[in-house]
Amino acid sequence: MSAPVDVPVALLGYGTVGSAVHRLLEDGAEDIARATGHRLRVVRALVRDPGREREHAPAHGVLTGDFRRIVDDGGVALVAEVMGGVEPTGEYVAELLRRGIPVVTANKQLVARHGPELFEAAAEGGAQLRFEASVCAAIPVIKLLRESLVVTNVHRVLGIVNGTTNFVLGEMEAGSTYADALAEAQRLGYAEADPTEDVSGLDAAAKMAILATVAFGSRVALEGVEVAGIDALRDEHVAAARALEMRVKLVGEAVLVGERVGVRVGPAFVDAHHPLASIEGAFNAVMLQGDAIRELTLEGPGAGGTETASAIVADLVSVLGASEAGFLRDDPVWRSLGALPHGELPSPYYLRLEVEDRAGVLARLAQELASEGVSVARLVQQPGDGHAVLHVVTHEAPAGRVEAALRAIRALPESRGDASALPVVSSRGVEELGWT
Ligand SMILES: NC(=O)c1ccc[n+]([C@@H]2O[C@H](COP(=O)([O-])OP(=O)(O)OC[C@H]3O[C@@H](n4cnc5c(N)ncnc54)[C@H](OP(=O)(O)O)[C@@H]3O)[C@@H](O)[C@H]2O)c1
Repeated sequence: MSAPVDVPVALLGYGTVGSAVHRLLEDGAEDIARATGHRLRVVRALVRDPGREREHAPAHGVLTGDFRRIVDDGGVALVAEVMGGVEPTGEYVAELLRRGIPVVTANKQLVARHGPELFEAAAEGGAQLRFEASVCAAIPVIKLLRESLVVTNVHRVLGIVNGTTNFVLGEMEAGSTYADALAEAQRLGYAEADPTEDVSGLDAAAKMAILATVAFGSRVALEGVEVAGIDALRDEHVAAARALEMRVKLVGEAVLVGERVGVRVGPAFVDAHHPLASIEGAFNAVMLQGDAIRELTLEGPGAGGTETASAIVADLVSVLGASEAGFLRDDPVWRSLGALPHGELPSPYYLRLEVEDRAGVLARLAQELASEGVSVARLVQQPGDGHAVLHVVTHEAPAGRVEAALRAIRALPESRGDASALPVVSSRGVEELGWT
């Protein structure tokens, strides 16, 4: 066997993920050389403070605080962007690509917000831009969608793509309050000190925008995703889900309906028999539905330094394997599909309604639902203190019609408390959903 080709690599960032990439490249050097005939060697790593003491410090002279030492070096063949943020990161990545240097990135916000400009820069420089690590860390879903599923006509992507919220919801199901569950997630390192991006659904929205873009080959902007977080969820929702043999999950859904794309993220009731219901703790899962594959579910760690670094290294290796030609090197976007107007995505819904407990009220509720074309599949009434709590599961209806019916119900004089609705995720008919 001839000696492996030397490939000088630069890292933008040497934090949790960057240092793990360095370690995996060193520990896996022989495996990579055997598989690809190349030896990837970290020669530069950009940090804010090169003088700071670090646990896994690279060799002397590798750390630098000056981006010019990477881009103007001339010897760097590949770059992994693992510094995060949108500025100045986006400018750095674009400049490298324009200079013909391939970049792989773990940065979902950058790809979701600036994908078009970055792929333009990549095309200009004839360099590859890859982003496997930006969605669900260790789960190789981007490569699967672009390569293995190229002829399957994927038309629906369902995902639990935020581990922090999945952990928090699991703790709430086990009896914790939202505040305690979030504090525990922070203590275990699953949640940032400022958890807004996770609990508001924004992190999941960026990942779903990327997944939808790749799955359907048409750009989905982050602003086009309908987003709701778990911050507005109430303990009663978790209790009602349990009674319905369902689980509350933060679910991302992207669908292709005809020539239009709809993407949303929000808390949903997931039927206990659905594959997404069994995703525990900080794990992620993505379910893909397509004509030729029916259904395929991937599950795995959606974060973590080593897990994310494994996807970065996989992308670096893929760049080497596809450096001559091949569709994977280009922008995954090849067409421009319209967006489904907000509120048109259909789903069965769970409704929680509180009303005065007297004759005729049920009929009025049914009337309001029917006038929006929302039909009831199941209904359970629990007596409250002078009022009744109604748990309703509807047949499939567009979100906008359900919201309109809720507005009308809230305005009824008999209405008590705040009526709320969450989509239901189930592969069974709603009639079969059990009540305990
Ligand atoms: N950690 C995860 O589990 C995970 C999972 C999926 C995706 N990601 C993504 O991976 C990326 C990196 O995450 P991380 O957890 O490794 O972050 P991190 O530990 O905070 O590391 C960031 C690194 O980038 C450097 N850096 C940041 N801003 C810089 C700037 N303006 N100029 C020069 N250097 C700069 C920092 O330098 P100093 O060391 O001097 O501070 C540090 O080395 C992010 O895009 C994140 O979203 C992370």
